[in-house]
Amino acid sequence: MSKEHTIAVIPGDGTGPEVIAEGIKVLGALSYRYGIHFKFFPWPLGGEHYLKTGELLPDRVINELKEMDAIYLGAIGHPGVKPGILEREILLRLRFELDLYINLRPVTLLPGVFTPLKDKEPQDIDFIVVRENTEGLYIGIGGVFKKGTPDEVAIQESISTRKGVERCVRYSFECCRKRDKAKHLTLCGKSNVLTYEFDLWERVFQEIGKQYGNIATDYHHVDAICMWMVKNPEQFDVIVTNNIFGDIITDLGAVIQGGLGIAAGGNINPEGTAMFEPIGGSAPKYAGSNKINPLAAISAAQMMLEYLGENEAAGALQNAVKKVVRDDLKSMEAGKMGYSTEEVGDLVVGPM
Ligand code: IPM
Ligand code: MN
Repeated sequence: MSKEHTIAVIPGDGTGPEVIAEGIKVLGALSYRYGIHFKFFPWPLGGEHYLKTGELLPDRVINELKEMDAIYLGAIGHPGVKPGILEREILLRLRFELDLYINLRPVTLLPGVFTPLKDKEPQDIDFIVVRENTEGLYIGIGGVFKKGTPDEVAIQESISTRKGVERCVRYSFECCRKRDKAKHLTLCGKSNVLTYEFDLWERVFQEIGKQYGNIATDYHHVDAICMWMVKNPEQFDVIVTNNIFGDIITDLGAVIQGGLGIAAGGNINPEGTAMFEPIGGSAPKYAGSNKINPLAAISAAQMMLEYLGENEAAGALQNAVKKVVRDDLKSMEAGKMGYSTEEVGDLVVGPM
């Protein structure tokens, strides 16, 4: 019997609970098969909970979450709550308070999954974006002056710290080293305009790169990266970038790998805890209809298993997902899969 893993489960809003239920189902099957011991602790955070109780993310909950081995998150977002509140007070606050400084977002096209990129095959779309997750434009520092007047000023500040950039860049080199692919790390920035910020990133990238002689490096501006991700995604192995650029290019990444139905990510503190989630939102229009694709949440569970060191189970889960998308699902889109949310979960459990 392996070590017991404590997992905080935050199903959240909209379709979050439905997809998380399938992820837990799959983890249950793996636990049985591989003798892994999970202890799940549910937390009722999100828009629904906020509207009922007025509570967003109490300090007490943060402290309890810090003690968990990992957090499994469905989706946070509610049409009844003004945009920005839940994002800032729950999702972003978790990233900051737990110092989840890496946002790891693999972009992998599995065989049998539709990509909107013409003539691109699974071997062409297989890279990882490492997004810095605690700095940049996301820090929420700024303000308005003379609001509502013609002289109004809005300021939104961006920071990059040496510590923050170094730990993210180092993680990216390590990620590239461990990944048995092209050994090629790309820095994505905008050094022609953001001359202060990306001067720091470029210097750190060069400095740390010296310690990784067998990893080839290059640099592209973020606008060019968007173009290359569509035209020649095969050139990428690992891309490291700042918070906002990472946010934007990973939506593009999600769509070329088959859409939000399948794209998963991890918010990671390599020295602390980590939170795994489907990249898509709460999709309120599909809530409760048993139509949403749970594979993104299930793949997030796979990333969580890897993070927990349960590599055998993670591999088995990956193979099961590959089989289901190749042999069973008609589409990755909600309502078009040919199966319900629950049935897709059952299909994944089937071969395990
Ligand atoms: C994401 C989301 C969040 C982000 C939002 C909901 C705050 O888009 O995880 O990519 O911008 O980071
Ligand atoms: Mn995003």
